[in-house]
Amino acid sequence: MNESKCGETPKRRMKLVRLLAIFVILMGLEEAAIAQVKRKGDPRRGEELYRALCWTCHGRYGRGDGPAAQYLATSPPDFTDSAVLRGKSDQTLFSLLSGRGQPSAPHAPMAIGEILKEQSIWDAIAYLRTLAVPGKHVSIQAGRDIYNTFCWSCHGKNGDGQGPGAKNLVGVKPRDFRRKDFVIEGREEEIYQTIFAGAAKAYHGSPYMPEWKSALSRQQILDVMEYLQTFKK
Ligand code: HEC
Ligand code: HEC
Repeated sequence: MNESKCGETPKRRMKLVRLLAIFVILMGLEEAAIAQVKRKGDPRRGEELYRALCWTCHGRYGRGDGPAAQYLATSPPDFTDSAVLRGKSDQTLFSLLSGRGQPSAPHAPMAIGEILKEQSIWDAIAYLRTLAVPGKHVSIQAGRDIYNTFCWSCHGKNGDGQGPGAKNLVGVKPRDFRRKDFVIEGREEEIYQTIFAGAAKAYHGSPYMPEWKSALSRQQILDVMEYLQTFKK
């Protein structure tokens, strides 16, 4: 590089290097701080706890439809509706669950948080955050289970369109959901109809893409559509 062209004196360069170093250190600190906040709760451990203690009321996917919900005087909220927890910070939820917040906190009466370790409460909160998709009312986790029951045999476990059932299909192959040109955004209704009524009815496509209207509810189709979008990530 031609130094004189840049007009840099060594002194000025030192200053630049020092500034850069400070910048890098600050960035590092900020990143560490973010990581620490993230580390507060471990969603994986939170899931274990949820499956041991919470799902009977809150439901397998957090829809508030667990087997015990029918006996409750107050219905558990639907955590797959992103609006439910959006306005509540982790700290607020922590206070709520640990009974240290308002005396009217939902769980204060049954003191469920008070029997938990602090860390377990943070883990549970981290897991609750995974139950909703920002801005939507769907469950990716329900979608994953539906996909792994009904769709993977043709579309492949990883969405590549090469499931064991795909080999024997004549004509158009099952869609590879990992491809860039597979988009749902802006085609929601079309994709919905393809799953609901089958490709043949929806767009004179392959009869091997069956209809799912008798097996899946509207909500379940929306859930699986949300899951389809995860293959590209
Ligand atoms: C016995 C049934 C039951 C169990 C078990 C249960 N919950 Fe709840 N939960 C409820 C009900 C009912 C509500 C709603 C209370 C209300 O609206 O006043 C609720 C509310 C909540 C809220 C507040 C949501 C909001 O909108 O503010 C959180 C967070 C929560 N539960 C988390 C958990 C976690 C985590 C567990 C497991 C450690 C758990 N719950 C176990 C019944 C239960
Ligand atoms: C028996 C094999 C088979 C099964 C099972 C299957 N599909 Fe398909 N799917 C296909 C085939 C073949 C196509 C291509 C149809 C065409 O384009 O003519 C397809 C196409 C699609 C498309 C169209 C994509 C686009 O870009 O228009 C979607 C969405 C889709 N499948 C979703 C699903 C979902 C969700 C399930 C499970 C509920 C499922 N499929 C189960 C074979 C299958």
